[in-house]
Amino acid sequence: MKTIIAKADTGREEVFALAGTILKKGGLVAFPTETVYGLGGDALRADAAHKIYRAKGRPSDNPLIVHIADTGSVYELASGVPKEAELLMEAFWPGPLTIIFHKKQIVPDTTTGGLDTVAVRMPAHPAALKLIRDSGICIAAPSANLSGRPSPTTARHVIEDMNGRIDMILDGGPVGIGIESTIVDMTEEIPTILRPGYISPGQIEALLGNVRLDPALEHPEALLRPKAPGMKYTHYAPRGELTIVEGKTDRVVEEINRLTDAHEAQGHVTAVICGTENRYRYHSAHVLDAGSRSHDITVSSALYRLLRECDTLGAEYIYSESFIDGEMGYAIMNRLMKAAGHRIINVEEDRI
Ligand code: TXA
Ligand code: MG
Repeated sequence: MKTIIAKADTGREEVFALAGTILKKGGLVAFPTETVYGLGGDALRADAAHKIYRAKGRPSDNPLIVHIADTGSVYELASGVPKEAELLMEAFWPGPLTIIFHKKQIVPDTTTGGLDTVAVRMPAHPAALKLIRDSGICIAAPSANLSGRPSPTTARHVIEDMNGRIDMILDGGPVGIGIESTIVDMTEEIPTILRPGYISPGQIEALLGNVRLDPALEHPEALLRPKAPGMKYTHYAPRGELTIVEGKTDRVVEEINRLTDAHEAQGHVTAVICGTENRYRYHSAHVLDAGSRSHDITVSSALYRLLRECDTLGAEYIYSESFIDGEMGYAIMNRLMKAAGHRIINVEEDRI
């Protein structure tokens, strides 16, 4: 299949008209959002959902998020929309928050991976909103990566994974946030966060007075079954062995240098992921700057790009600093820990 690649400037009516035609025929269009690029198809067509799973190489028990452009669409897709969900919609949409509702019959089981609930979000990206509005379609879209690879944060990443597999890619440049939306399940008695993201548990609690985290997020070692099926996959992982090193900065730098020196002495390729602040303190041949800790959205927006870069470099041993401290620390570390298969060295504890 020849994939059409086009710049997603919202002034280019002909580009959006073509993308809309493709979606209406059941085809697939990748598009930018404020979090990561999505791989879109008509959410109400089972055949389009099948095509999405095939293009990604994704297990079809992993449900898709339905993207909408006005809140009215929620009532077409979902039943029993609670008051608290309406508060969330008002406060955070358009934006990086996905809400789980009970689904209506109109949403095919293929889109929801057989679940009787549906995930809905209104993205805060002009090209995404225009695509949804102009096509008149609710767009089911997972992240536009091949299953097992980090989510795409630039059109280049989408091209790497999807060229020749889908009909069209809309290039909107690098995304702003860089990690996927927060998912909150409003079908539970207590609103439950299934996936952390830019919208923090604190922000949701401030609005609703009550929120809890899916226990599987808090205790990954207990091998609990996460309620968002996609959270059980060890995606994001680079091919090399990634380890997080945490503790006091000087000791972290010392330990990472000791480890990479040893690996490099044996002829292995190493890489280090660090904050700009420590950029020049590492010995590794590949020091990957994740951005400044004082502005941790630069870290979230860089993370997946750096994990992909580790593969391009052929890095066999990768060490990353911890990024828990900033406002997005919890969400960033959720992704980084998964990428590291929860391999952590704590330099403070090691001393004891
Ligand atoms: O930021 C985002 O949410 C991006 C952009 C493209 O919008 N999309 C995204 O989709 O991350 P995806 O498919 O990569 O992740 C969707 C997650 C999966 O973990 C899936 O299991 C979960 O949402 N999910 C979807 N529907 C669900 C449902 N009904 N109940 C529980 N989890 C659900
Ligand atoms: Mg994904």
